[in-house]
Amino acid sequence: MRRYAVFGSPIAHSLSPFIHAAFARQTGIALEYVAIEAGHGDFAEKLAASGVDGANVTLPLKEDAFALCRSTSARAQRAGAVNTLLHEGDGWRGDNTDGLGLVRDLTERHGLDLRDRRVLLLGAGGAARGVAPALLDAGIHSLYIANRTAERADALADALGDPARVHPRGWDALSDLGEFDLLVNATAATRTGALPVLPMALVAPRSVAVDLNYGASAVAFLAWARAAGCAQALDGLGMLVEQAAESFSLWHGVRPETDAVYAALRARVETSPAAGD
Ligand SMILES: NC(=O)c1ccc[n+]([C@@H]2O[C@H](COP(=O)([O-])OP(=O)(O)OC[C@H]3O[C@@H](n4cnc5c(N)ncnc54)[C@H](OP(=O)(O)O)[C@@H]3O)[C@@H](O)[C@H]2O)c1
Repeated sequence: MRRYAVFGSPIAHSLSPFIHAAFARQTGIALEYVAIEAGHGDFAEKLAASGVDGANVTLPLKEDAFALCRSTSARAQRAGAVNTLLHEGDGWRGDNTDGLGLVRDLTERHGLDLRDRRVLLLGAGGAARGVAPALLDAGIHSLYIANRTAERADALADALGDPARVHPRGWDALSDLGEFDLLVNATAATRTGALPVLPMALVAPRSVAVDLNYGASAVAFLAWARAAGCAQALDGLGMLVEQAAESFSLWHGVRPETDAVYAALRARVETSPAAGD
């Protein structure tokens, strides 16, 4: 039986084992998929010791995973972050399925047209790095990146190499940016502390807000988005299942159907809101 794992910290409440077990049943592929707790200091060692055939990588290890790969896909290079590892000889090839997962969820599940949209991305960590190139590829008009540590927003903007559309900003500049069509929370703020205050002036009646978090971690941003008057406030559960489906198809050459797994996850998160990716 082939073995897979998701590495990250904290990882105990990860939904990835549930998702990949559901995909395996649906496609008739025999596999085991487990969650392994690992941080910056012990990730490489635990990955080597695990003997897995492939792996997912989550917070806070996506940039560490990028650094340890022997080769990386074009989308992982643009992100500077890896969430999917595939064997390449005795080393690893890295890919990043987060951006495709978000765009597929927004456009196919929720029917949004991203073309020509003015987009605010909050955060510049591994998840923000994954979704930014895919949003640009989906044809958005402009991408404003605001991060608590402004230098990280600058570094992401530099890496994206699209100065006409990409504008890094410090968190303190948010009140001067005007309204956005799409607001994406890619921070881990509600996991590590409280969501910083966001000006309501960022929102227009047409605005859509999406939190890459879900369950208890998404409550604060989505409550703010609704209070500010967003037309839609979406969580990251759809992205989670879509990025997992893309990883699954990279490993097994079969694309699983996601709607039934999404519905099962939604029911699971409603009864256990502490779940994490
Ligand atoms: N739905 C999905 O499929 C999916 C996929 C990937 C990630 N996610 C979620 O997205 C979130 C971010 O993940 P990641 O991999 O990007 O983590 P990461 O690499 O550790 O980055 C964390 C980001 O959050 C910011 N942040 C942390 N605490 C903050 C606070 N108190 N106030 C303001 N900003 C704060 C960091 O800012 P600094 O740079 O200033 O530290 C950084 O931008 C996680 O909660 C993760 O669960 C969901």
